[in-house]
Parts: sequence; C-alpha cells; structure tokens
Amino acid sequence: MTLEEKTKLVVGMGFKITLPPGVDSIPGLHLPPTDPEDDRIPEKVAGAAGRTHAIPRLGIPSLTVSDGPAGIRINPIRNNDSSKTYYATAFPVGTLLASSWDTTLLHKVGAAFGNEVREYGTDIILGPALNIQRNPLGGRNFEYYSEDPVVTGHITAAIVNGFQSSGIGTSIKHFAANNQETNRMQVNTVVSERALREIYLKGFEIAIKEAQPWTVMSSYNLINGTYTSQRRDLLTTILRNEWGFKGFVMTDWWGGKDPIQQMNAGNDLIMPGGPDQSKAIATAVQNGTISMQQLDENVTHILNIILQSPTFKKYPYSNHPDAKAHALVSRQAATESMILLRNNNKTLPLATNQKIAVFGNTAYDLIAGGTGSGDVNKAYVITPAQGFTNAGYNVDETWKNNYTTYVTQAKATRKPISILETPPPIPEMPIDPATLAATVSTTDAAIITIGRNAGEGADRKLEGDYYLTPEEKTLLQQIANTYHEAHKKVIVILNIGGVIEIASWRNLADAILLAWQPGQEGGNAIGDIISGKVNPSGKLATTFPMDYKDVPSASTFPGKELPVPTEQMTAQGFLGGKPAEVTYDEGIYVGYRYYNTFHVQPAYEFGYGMSYTTFTYSGLTLNSNTINDTRTARVTITNNGPVAGKEVVQLYISAPANKTDKPAEELKAFAKTNLLQPGKSQTITFTIHTSDLASYNTNASAWIAEAGKYQVKIGASSINILQSATFNLPVDKIAEKDTPLLTPQVNIKELKP
Ligand code: BGC
Repeated sequence: MTLEEKTKLVVGMGFKITLPPGVDSIPGLHLPPTDPEDDRIPEKVAGAAGRTHAIPRLGIPSLTVSDGPAGIRINPIRNNDSSKTYYATAFPVGTLLASSWDTTLLHKVGAAFGNEVREYGTDIILGPALNIQRNPLGGRNFEYYSEDPVVTGHITAAIVNGFQSSGIGTSIKHFAANNQETNRMQVNTVVSERALREIYLKGFEIAIKEAQPWTVMSSYNLINGTYTSQRRDLLTTILRNEWGFKGFVMTDWWGGKDPIQQMNAGNDLIMPGGPDQSKAIATAVQNGTISMQQLDENVTHILNIILQSPTFKKYPYSNHPDAKAHALVSRQAATESMILLRNNNKTLPLATNQKIAVFGNTAYDLIAGGTGSGDVNKAYVITPAQGFTNAGYNVDETWKNNYTTYVTQAKATRKPISILETPPPIPEMPIDPATLAATVSTTDAAIITIGRNAGEGADRKLEGDYYLTPEEKTLLQQIANTYHEAHKKVIVILNIGGVIEIASWRNLADAILLAWQPGQEGGNAIGDIISGKVNPSGKLATTFPMDYKDVPSASTFPGKELPVPTEQMTAQGFLGGKPAEVTYDEGIYVGYRYYNTFHVQPAYEFGYGMSYTTFTYSGLTLNSNTINDTRTARVTITNNGPVAGKEVVQLYISAPANKTDKPAEELKAFAKTNLLQPGKSQTITFTIHTSDLASYNTNASAWIAEAGKYQVKIGASSINILQSATFNLPVDKIAEKDTPLLTPQVNIKELKP
C-alpha cells in the first residue's frame, strides 16, 4: 500500500446529516470540511453513520457502519419512493434489556438485530453502548445498561456474541468514562485509577475477554487531562496488551483533536474524518512523528476486520429482514425485562374481562426509545392503549378519544427539530372532573402512564424531568382520589429511559410497572404483563434513590466549566460542549456500592423486582477448587407460589477491608432461572474466581485479593439477602500485576467509608 492509501484507510468518510423538513441547520454544529471526491461516492446504505475508504486497486472495499444500540438507524424512505421502505425493528433500550439479567435473551436479541444489520447491507453496528449510569440525570443512560460493571460486562458480552454470530461486527462504546452529555466533546473526567479499573473499565474488560468485539469506539471526553482517543495507555497498553483486544479502535464522531496522537495511541480509525487528517498523518510519517511501523499496525487492525466483513465477502444482502420474526423478539425482550415495582393487595395481574380507563399522553403515544443516534426509524409503535385492547381489555373510549385528539394536536404544533434534539414533552392533559366522575362508575380500574424522553447532547433536568411535573402530580392525585373513593385500583406504568423520583407519590398507586422505553412492541409487552400472560421477571440494574440529594455524584454532576483559551474559541459550539471538568470524588462508591456501604435507604434498590409468584432460596453450599483457583456456590431456587415464573438470582461478596476499603456488598455473578412451574426447583451453580475477589490497589498497581474471611451472599436483590456462607482466604493473592497508568494529575479527595 502507498502512504496515501494507508492514510486514507485510517481516516473514514461518509457522514451525511439529513435535516427534517423545516430545519435548515443545527445550532452550534459546524462540521469540518469533507473531501468533495468522497462526497461523490454513492452510499451503500442511505442514512448509515459513516464508511471507510475503499482501495479498489487492492480489492479493499469500503465498510459501512450504522447506529445504534436499539435498532439499525438508516433512512427508511429513499429517493422519495415510499413504494419500497427500509424500516428497522426498534428493540427495547439498553436499560430495559439489562433489567432482564438474562444473557440467553440478550444473545437472541443480538442475533436477530445483527441479522437485520446484515440484511440492510451494513458491516458494523455502532453499539452496544455500555457506559456506567453514574448519575440518574445522564442524558444517554437509556442507551446504557447499568450502574454496575458486572451486569454491564456480561450483558454486553452476550449481545455482542449474538450480533457477531450473525456475521456482522460491533463497536462497543464509548471507551471510557463517558458518563454525561453536558460539554461532552471537551469534558475532562478526573477519576482515580481504582475507580476506572473497578467501575468504568470493568464492563469493557469483561466484554472484550468474553466476546472479542470487532471494534471499540473511543469516547469524546478526556480522562485525567488527555482525550481518550489520544491515550496510548488506554487504547494499547490496557485494551490490547492487558485484555487481548484484537479488532480496531475508532473515534467517536469528530472526537479528540490530534490525529497524530490518535494514531500513536492506537486509535486506528478516525471517524468520520476528513482530508485534513489524512494529510496531517502523511506529513507526520514523513517527518517521523508517526513511525511507519505504527501506521502499519493501525492499517493492519482495520484490514483484519475488513477481511471478515459481509461487504468483503460480497454478501448478497436482501434489504428484506424478517420484520415479523424480529418484532416477536423485540416483544419478548421487553416482556421478560419489565419490572414490577409495586403490587399492593395483588392488584396485578388484572383480569382481561375488565373495563379500564387509560390516562397519560404516552399511553397513546408510547416513547419506544430515546433520541439522537440511539433513535430508530421504525415502521410502527404499539401504544399501551392498543396493547390493552390486543390483550382483551375493554379500553374506555371517552379518554381514548380525548387523549388521541389532544396528543395529535400538540404534536402538530411542535416546531421541527434535528437529530440532536429531544422533542419537548407534551404537558399532561387537564382532566375534566365531571367526565372523570362519569368514567369511574363505568370502569373497573384506572391505568396512568408517565413518560420521559432524553438523548444525545443534553443531560436531564431535575425539575419536570427527574421530578414529576405539576401536571403529572395533579393527574395522579386526581385519578387516585376518585378511583380510590370508589374502591377501585390505580395502576401506574413508567415509560421512562432513566431513573425518576418515585418515593413521594408511590402511595397513590396500587401497582407500578416500570416498562422503561420498550421498543416498537412495547404496548403489547405491557399488555402481556398487566394481564398476567407473562409473569414479570425483570429486576433493577440501577438504583431508584429516595431523592436526588442521596445520589453520591449529586454535588459533582455534571462538573464545572473551565475558562476558554482564545485559540479554542473557534472550536466552540462544535457538536456542543465547552471545556469543562468533572471530578468523580465518590470513587468506587457508585450506585448500590454507595447506598449499601453508607446505609442510605433507596426507594427501590439495585436488583429489586417483584413477581406474581414467590420463590424460596435454600441449600447454599460452597466448594473450593485449588487447582484452578475457583470456588463454586450452589443454591436451589423453588417456586412456591401459584403461577409459573423466572427468578433473577444474585451473588454478592462482602470482602475483608483491612488494607483497602471495600463496598459492603459487591455483585460478582448472577443468573436467571428457567421458567419454573409452581412447586418446581432449579439449582444454580456460580463460579467465583479468586480474581473476582480482588480490588485494584493503586500503590501496588495490582489487583489484590486480601487474606481474610469472605461472605458469599445470595440475594433476590442487593438488600434482600436470603442465603449466606463464608470462606477464608489464607494469604493475600495478587491476581494481576499491571503498570501505573491513567494516573490523575491532581489529588482526588475520594469518599471513604
Ligand atoms: C455518538 C455515537 C454515534 C456517532 C455516530 C456520536 O455523536 O456519540 O454514539 O455512534 O455519533 O452517529
């Protein structure tokens, strides 16, 4: 390959922004110049997020990469011809999928979704996204899985294995410590090596080791003063040398600043890139600031993946994925993951011969998923109201008509927005008391939905988003008063992408179903759970605190803005984001690690979720195997309730904390039972490796499992521990010795118990 060919291969192309009718530009978005020659190359897949350069002389084709984590985001209508469409299946968002705690299900979703990616002609899906839900206000939390890296890692590995089993590649993103949207292009994350290793990198590490994704996407932010895409310690020493990553690394779109440092760091592909970067890399090779050996490595990493790609293999994609089959997978994933938070006096399941009054905008206009690159152009969305009708309920027509008219009118008067904006929420419709009074006598129960949307480019706000709006509070109060006076039940369905405040109003509801943002079949999935056709089995992979002030990062999120140096002024506004800094002074005490250790009672704890049946846990036994340095824990789960169900079983460890502070409990393994019929049992076996016991000791730059007494706790949640046993580790064990890397440049005063 010539130098010019190499520098073209390591810089991508092909990003096109399609503005909706009525939108001329995106405020603050000034994109760098593209190569006019590239712009003339016809797109393989309209609406894909980008491409690599082909080198026809050598038979190297161009790879196509598409967003995003909940379904392939491509243009559904092309060349104004609606006789042939390219709609994609909208799967449930990441937070919902993780709430299944079911790696078999995630593999199935990955395989169906991956097949769709392949049939639409794309090589690599830009997902899954697995940043940690550090703070409830994170604008992209819906795309991410959990506040916990072990759930995150295994769920990611399962879906990546599913995707890649269908012959396409993944780009796990955003590597790393990209936990907010405010100032996202330029925020410097100040974080300790221990918190990085144990919390923010761990999920990526598990996914790399268990699934070997084709690619990794570096993130926009800086870590301890350097852009992630320019950190060799992160992208080469840790990712490749320590974890054994074999694919290539690409930047997030226009992420980082210096293409030379990016190449040298091992960020192999710059996306979507432009001719200026290719030129800068060529000059750097000529003057020796990038060695030819380095550039060859970057090129080789990309070529190795191209050789595996459907495009290289000339896969004859159909543009006709099996939409019906994939819709069924989407529905199953949603049904198996929704979480029953509250169910007083067995309000649910609700017999389908009942008549129900359905309130709330999103009951008639479901939010299937979040906005931005995580959005999907889907053919349809089943609303909860439709789902109830499909399930056999008699849905009150008066409210259905009122809401449909109200929501349709409100949407018609909205101003058009671009992909980087979230549509402003429609305030809840005022309820006429006389109409309500008339409905109470003719219906058996009331169902109210509360909806939230968010997306790329902005974090969520406290008022009117984390907390309910005044209109929502009035709606809940009014319906609860009226229905409860008539001794009728009120059920609340949460159609949200991230955590909201619940504690202050939950007593108004007899039952609460957390449906998250459940994809295009969401209404049917909600109907499956409400009717009891499917017994809920999802559990929280993130904590719902009593109040925002309890969140360990409440005082540091989203950080502070830094003064803008004059030469940076021109870069201002580019995709949003000012120079800023956020310090993770809660260290490793994120989510339940904080609430459990510091005895802060949450509204609903990590790992919590109800069922229509009950389970007993019994017979925990531990065995150690000195040969492979593992221990096994066996526990039997019995369904001793009235209906069939599945149970998510969690294994936590409480470790000695003499030399290093430790969280009170840490999740180390989890499993979901099969569908257990009443009276039936299943024995689950967990394996605990000594390395699972270790903490990252910064002074020693090593993972050390401290000698002492360990408690194995098997729980139905992080608080509800039902079986426990202990074992002893006679001497300290060094699980892995690393070199000091990613070191903060300032002293972080970290939270300690
Ligand atoms: C997002 C990525 C996405 C990329 C391409 C970026 O703005 O952060 O998650 O994959 O755009 O659309």
